Amino acid sequence: MKEIKKKHLERTDFLKGELKDVQFDDPMKMFSTWYQEAHEKNCPEPHAVVLTTATLDAKPSSRIVYMRELVEEGFVIYTNYLSRKGSEITENPNAALLFYWDCCERQVRIEGTIEKIDPLISDDYFDARPRMSQIGAWASEQSQQIPDRQSLEDRVAYFEEKFPTKVPRPPHWGGLLVKPVYFEFWQGRLGRLHDRICYQNNDKTWSNFRIAP
Ligand SMILES: Cc1cc2nc3c(=O)[nH]c(=O)nc-3n(C[C@H](O)[C@H](O)[C@H](O)COP(=O)(O)O)c2cc1C
Repeated sequence: MKEIKKKHLERTDFLKGELKDVQFDDPMKMFSTWYQEAHEKNCPEPHAVVLTTATLDAKPSSRIVYMRELVEEGFVIYTNYLSRKGSEITENPNAALLFYWDCCERQVRIEGTIEKIDPLISDDYFDARPRMSQIGAWASEQSQQIPDRQSLEDRVAYFEEKFPTKVPRPPHWGGLLVKPVYFEFWQGRLGRLHDRICYQNNDKTWSNFRIAP
């Protein structure tokens, strides 16, 4: 293997917390506690999350998105339904989320299924977005090949003119709900002896267990 950049030899010790016991039977409560703490510790963009989807033949792809709503059923993100992620989820509803909060030395892994949300909820969210983002949702054929930057800007100008006042929600743009069936809460610890507490949903009840680091 040819080295292209000097190896990173520095080691980070994880010292900021511990996860001795299971604190909640419900992993969503556990998640919202950690999410709140990520805000309190001023983690940059605590709502940024890696979303992984896969094709029908299980070829995965990942990208960062923003989690916009945390609801009882799971995690809501907004996107273009015709994007790569959008077409993958129509073939294969399995998805994973990964949050990483460096300032707390924590990660949360979530696995489950993903589905479109009620269009009326998407309407409400879309209406609250800044006009530029609304126009962008029409102008950008997300993940499609385009000839150049100018063609994108031309589409922006076209939709600016088409919608001089209220911008309606494009039918291909809206929310996705990730419904979790598995969680792992990871807290970094000294000597790489990290804490990892998992939750598994079986028949609508959550069981939990610890796994080795
Ligand atoms: C910090 C950050 C936040 C992002 N948030 C979103 C988002 O909420 N929704 C979205 O569709 N794309 C978001 N993106 C862009 C995606 O990473 C990605 O480029 C886009 O969704 C197309 O992905 P796809 O081709 O795999 O469908 C964000 C990117 C970054 C870096």
